[in-house]
Amino acid sequence: LRHTRVKDLLNSTNTLHEVNAKGWVRTFRNNQFIALNDGSTINNIQCVVDFENTAEETLKRITTGAAVSVTGDLVESKGAGQKFEIKVRKLEILGDSDAEKFPMQPKKHSLEFLRENAHLRVRTNAFGAIMRVRSVLSFAVHNYFQQKGFVYVNTPIITGADAEGAGEMFQVTSLPLDNLPKNEEGKIDYKKDFFGQHTNLTVSGQLEGETFAMALGQIYTFGPTFRAENSNTSRHLAEFWMIEPEVAFNNLDDNMDLAEDFIQYVIKYAMDKCGDDLKFLEGRLLEEEKSKPQAERSEMALLEKLNFVLENNFKRVSYTEAIDILRDSTPNKKKKFQYLINEWGADLQSEHERYLVEKHFKSPVILFDYPANIKAFYMRLNEDGKTVRAMDILFPGIGEIVGGSQREERFDVLVEKMKALGIDEEELWWYLDTRRFGSAVHSGFGLGFERLVLFVTGMTNIRDVIPFPRTPQNAAF
Ligand code: 4AD
Ligand code: MG
Repeated sequence: LRHTRVKDLLNSTNTLHEVNAKGWVRTFRNNQFIALNDGSTINNIQCVVDFENTAEETLKRITTGAAVSVTGDLVESKGAGQKFEIKVRKLEILGDSDAEKFPMQPKKHSLEFLRENAHLRVRTNAFGAIMRVRSVLSFAVHNYFQQKGFVYVNTPIITGADAEGAGEMFQVTSLPLDNLPKNEEGKIDYKKDFFGQHTNLTVSGQLEGETFAMALGQIYTFGPTFRAENSNTSRHLAEFWMIEPEVAFNNLDDNMDLAEDFIQYVIKYAMDKCGDDLKFLEGRLLEEEKSKPQAERSEMALLEKLNFVLENNFKRVSYTEAIDILRDSTPNKKKKFQYLINEWGADLQSEHERYLVEKHFKSPVILFDYPANIKAFYMRLNEDGKTVRAMDILFPGIGEIVGGSQREERFDVLVEKMKALGIDEEELWWYLDTRRFGSAVHSGFGLGFERLVLFVTGMTNIRDVIPFPRTPQNAAF
C-alpha cells in the first residue's frame, strides 16, 4: 500500500478504506491522538491510535519528531476543526526521536534559536509555511516570464565583472591558500588567483543578461547572487537570489510597467495557491502584534496588505520630488524629525524610504531619475546631464525591493562614464560590444527574491525566509 500525502487525505471528498500516511509526529496527546505532519500542508492529520491494543513499548516511542507510518481508515472526525482523521489499525515507528534531546519542542521557540537550528526549524509550522510559499513564488516567477515569452538565461556565478562597480565581491581562488600568486612586493596578486585570471562570485547577472537581451529580445535570470558587504541588517544577506529581466527596446516607463505587473502577478499567484499557509502566517503575525504597544501595531493584517498591493497602482515619484517631500516633512524646530532632512544629491537612507512609503504615500512607491553619482555606471544619462534613468521600487516594511534602470545604450557616453569612474574598458570589452554592434534602447531591473518572500510572508528578518542564511556571522552552517 503506497502512502498518501496528508494534504490529499484532508482534501478527500469521502471517507476511505485502508490508507497509509507517513510523516513526523508533532504531538501525541492522551496516549491516543497523534498530530501527524508530512510537510504537504500546514495542517496535521489526527491519527487515533488504538492504545488498548498497542504495545506499551510502541506507545512510548510516539514522541515529537519521530517518523511514523500509520495504516487504517480515513473516517469522519468528531473533533473540531478537521473533517477527517485516520483510525489507526497498524502503526510503525520508522525513526525514533529522543523526546529529551529533540530541539523542536511543541512550544513557541524564539526566531534566534530557530536560526541556529536552520536544519530543523523547517519542521515547525511557521517555517514549513514560509518555505512552501517561497517555492510557490519561485514557480510563479518562471510562470510569469515564460507565459510572456521571455527566455530564461543562466548567467555565470564565477565571473570577472563587477556589475555594480561597488567592490562588494567575494574573491574566488582555485589555488591552495598558502600558494597564492604574489606580486613583486610579496602581496597576494588577486588578478591571477583563478588559474591565472582574476575572478569573483557574481554580484548581479545583469551585464551578461544585457548581451542576451540584445539577441533574444526579452530575457530573465533567476539565480544566486553574492555581496561581500558587512551589513548586519534584517534586509541583507551575503548570498541571496535575484530575478533580473532585461528587455530590448523598453524605456524606463515600460520597465516600471513590467516590474509592477510582475510583482502583482506573483503575489496574486501565491495568494491563490498558498491560502492555508498565508492564513497561518497572518495569525502568527496578529499574535505577535498583540505584544506591541498600540501605536506600533501595523494597520493592516497580512492578507489585507497583500490585497492592497494588488489593487493599487504603485506611486511613481521622481527623486527630486521625493527630496522636496522629505524637506517639507521636516519641521525644523522639532529636533526628533531632523533625520528626515535630505539634500539633493544624497542617497536616501532607509528611514527616508520608510517615511515616503509608510507615512507619506502609504503605498508602494517607484522612485526614478536619481542623481547620476549615486547610481551604477551603466544607467542612461538624462538630458539634464546630472540624473540617470534609474528606478527603485520601495515597499512598506521592506524598503527597496527592486533596483533597475534604462541602460546607457550610447557607446561614447558609456565609455566616457566608465573612464570617469576608473572602470577598465578592456575588462568589459565584451559588454561594450553590445553598444558597438546593433545597440538599442533597453531596460531591466533586479528583484531581491528574499525581500519579496519577506513581504508576502509578513516576516521581518530576511534570515527567516531563506533555507540556510549566509550572513557575516553565519556562513559555514
Ligand atoms: O539594487 P541592486 O544592487 O541592483 C542590481 O544588482 C542591478 N544589477 C539589477 C538590475 O538592474 N538588473 O540589487 C537589486 C535588488 C535590490 O533592490 C534588493 O531587493 C536586492 O537586489 N538586494 C539584496 N537582497 C538581499 N541581500 C542583499 N545584500 C541585497 N542586495 C541587493
Ligand atoms: Mg539598489
